[in-house]
Amino acid sequence: MRLLGRDLAMDLGAASTRIYARRKGIVLDEPSAVMCDGRTGKVIGYGAEAAALGGGGRTCWPVSGGLPADTELARRMIRHFLRKVHWHPYARPRVIMALPSDSTPIDRAALRDIAYEAEARTVQLVPHALAAALGAGMELTDCTGHMVIDIGRDAARVAVLSGESVVAAGSVPYGGQAVNRAIARFVEREHGLLLDEPEAESAKRRAGGGDRQIMVHARDPDTGRERELALPVERIFEAAAQPVESIVRTAMETVERCPAELTADLGVRGAVLVGGGALLRGLGRRLRETLCMPVRRAERPLEAVALGLGRCVDELGPIGRLRGRP
Ligand SMILES: Nc1ncnc2c1ncn2[C@@H]1O[C@H](COP(=O)(O)OP(=O)(O)OP(=O)(O)O)[C@@H](O)[C@H]1O
Ligand SMILES: [Mg+2]
Repeated sequence: MRLLGRDLAMDLGAASTRIYARRKGIVLDEPSAVMCDGRTGKVIGYGAEAAALGGGGRTCWPVSGGLPADTELARRMIRHFLRKVHWHPYARPRVIMALPSDSTPIDRAALRDIAYEAEARTVQLVPHALAAALGAGMELTDCTGHMVIDIGRDAARVAVLSGESVVAAGSVPYGGQAVNRAIARFVEREHGLLLDEPEAESAKRRAGGGDRQIMVHARDPDTGRERELALPVERIFEAAAQPVESIVRTAMETVERCPAELTADLGVRGAVLVGGGALLRGLGRRLRETLCMPVRRAERPLEAVALGLGRCVDELGPIGRLRGRP
């Protein structure tokens, strides 16, 4: 360990927080969850522990859109995660985090403050799209246009980069959670049954396998009883069409805002998909058809932002400056 503390990169996601340690790789990947006692409100667990505790408490998700939504809980959760990967009585880590492209100066200040309060020694913010592109393995050495689409839990973020600069960006509040809600709405509309979020999430993931139908457990609102239901896979994808189309439209509108010479580059270089939503079957094909450009999925879509921030951490100079980066 360095005398003054380790260098870490943190991807603070709405669903998961991932921490990359310099020269080690990803050392933490846990749900961005905090479990509070249902009666007293006291925090009783963080991350995977909070998710595993099950009943008896209230699970809170203190991050939204890459920023703290519940400042106090987010600070405590970040501190818990940082201590988990780096505990030392004196040394504190230098931390690099991603800054969403639609964030305001107030968001930026809040993100820094929260990281300092969570015991970071220094904090550097890297544009989220740049981290995603680096983590997807893009080489950003020239000014060629590249597109990166990050589909997380509660948002999809689209950005066009020229070299390391973000030229156009757009976002839409539809990610994996919106797809789950669309599937639950479909089950309620068509079958009059209630599908809870974990069951919708599980159905969506299993629909990406090879099966033609998926068995789900839904609740009858009249009797309160659970019923098993077979959902044809194509109906699950039909249900997911509305959030998917919103993501596709946002990508299209972002391309339309780009200078013509970059649009031409995009036709050749194409777009890369990152984030857990990139695993949704059929999304890549739909984007390819509409955008008329090659679309590929990053090798490790869920970890791409953390890996991209990790590339920045690996470049961090001794005085904490990112060589040639913002
Ligand atoms: N196999 C899969 N198929 C479809 N969706 C998936 C799959 N695996 C994960 N997801 C979705 O990915 C989302 C989480 O992705 P990710 O971990 O990139 O989000 P995040 O970075 O925490 O959130 P955000 O970027 O919005 O802050 C979840 O909503 C989940 O439903
Ligand atoms: Mg994310």
